[in-house]
Amino acid sequence: MARTLITGGLVITAADELHADVLIDGGRVVALATPDSHGWTADRVIDATGKYVIPGGVDGHTHMEMPFGGTYASDTFETGTRAAAWGGTTTIIDFAIQSKEHTLAEGLDAWHAKADGVCAIDYGFHMIMSDVNESSLREMDALVASGVTSFKLFTAYPGVFFSDDGQILRAMQRAASNGGLVMTHAENGLAIDVLVEQALARGERDPRHHGEVRKALLEAEATHRVIRLSQVAGAPLYVVHVSAREAVAELARARDEGLPVFGETCPQYLFLSTDNLAEPGFEGAKYVCSTPLRPKEHQEVLWRGLRTDDLQVVSTDHCPFCFKGQKEKGLGDFSKIPNGMPGVENRMDLLHQAVVDGRIGRRRWIEIACAAPARMFGLYPKKGTIAPGSDADIVVYDPRAQQTISAATHHMNVDYSAYEGKRVTGRVETVLSRGTVVIEDRAYVGRPGHGTYVPRGLCQYAN
Ligand code: URP
Ligand code: ZN
Ligand code: ZN
Repeated sequence: MARTLITGGLVITAADELHADVLIDGGRVVALATPDSHGWTADRVIDATGKYVIPGGVDGHTHMEMPFGGTYASDTFETGTRAAAWGGTTTIIDFAIQSKEHTLAEGLDAWHAKADGVCAIDYGFHMIMSDVNESSLREMDALVASGVTSFKLFTAYPGVFFSDDGQILRAMQRAASNGGLVMTHAENGLAIDVLVEQALARGERDPRHHGEVRKALLEAEATHRVIRLSQVAGAPLYVVHVSAREAVAELARARDEGLPVFGETCPQYLFLSTDNLAEPGFEGAKYVCSTPLRPKEHQEVLWRGLRTDDLQVVSTDHCPFCFKGQKEKGLGDFSKIPNGMPGVENRMDLLHQAVVDGRIGRRRWIEIACAAPARMFGLYPKKGTIAPGSDADIVVYDPRAQQTISAATHHMNVDYSAYEGKRVTGRVETVLSRGTVVIEDRAYVGRPGHGTYVPRGLCQYAN
């Protein structure tokens, strides 16, 4: 494979910022050196003068083609991973689903079949457990050994993904012994279903009621519960899509107690709010996801959590449904709106905007979007950094370019943007995936099937 040299840029990792040239050979980074200190030659030279040279993003939470509410997330692995590349993300970890009365292996095989040979960038899998029983618990060990090292359990969605406290405890006990990481969707789903029924009976049918019934207190209660279950099991815990300040407080308290608990939030909770859910007509349906968007005051607490490391990761929970025909399933009944929002293409830019706005520093940007998810899910330093030996998953990022986010220009297979019209400073210019250029000067030059499956190691914070 050809040697590539990236010259003149400011290399930013979670640890350092340095003016250095980066030499790539065989799909890997082989060396970094200050520009005047080497005489390297290469087959291809990428001039990054005035630009940032950053690790490709690691999005630890996506749902390509996920079945939900009688439909499927509108991005396939092909379209979704291409959009991810456009946005500077070079690895996704998607959720394979064990359906009820099926084995984990059957669920995993089905997701491999969807992704195999079509992805633009590398990918791994978490496993959603919807049927915790003696046999699926035993299967967890084999999955961990094969590189699927994290398992999502739900306290929400009764009758679909829901597990009771006993099942969650058993899965955590198994993870404590096999090194796996339990991830939880923490909302009290049984209580929420009562509130949904009561709201509909009162005639409250608009999208904004989705946010009202899925109360912050019910997120906090479930977060508290799964933290204590993980403590009893002696297992680490990762809470996905944290949106409520009360849930952040639960995580912060547990971390202050020294417990190995971790939290993820998503751009939609940092940049959007219940004001969006209340947009007139049926527009609010675009913003229906769970956990739901919260009132604006919660955003400050999430940003603070990201600065203080009470929250460690920003993933997208990319789960797009078109407004026409998919979100519209919930016209007149908010509980039938498929839950999920698009975002895999926007995460790196939105978080860079947070750097521009002074909310986080540049290295923290790389930490929460690249390095921490890579460490959390056993991919570091292959992914998430730029260092000798790392995969050459690299983004040349123009920190001064201006862009307006819009469905008219995005590459996700969905008919709206959650950030329509938002002006951001900063833009992906060139993207390399294992040394192969996949985005070049704002053009896609990759191919389906370049992306390969990446088996993962254990969580590097907990083991
Ligand atoms: O609304 C969401 N988050 N949809 C995707 C499924 C999940 O719970 O993560
Ligand atoms: Zn979830
Ligand atoms: Zn999700």
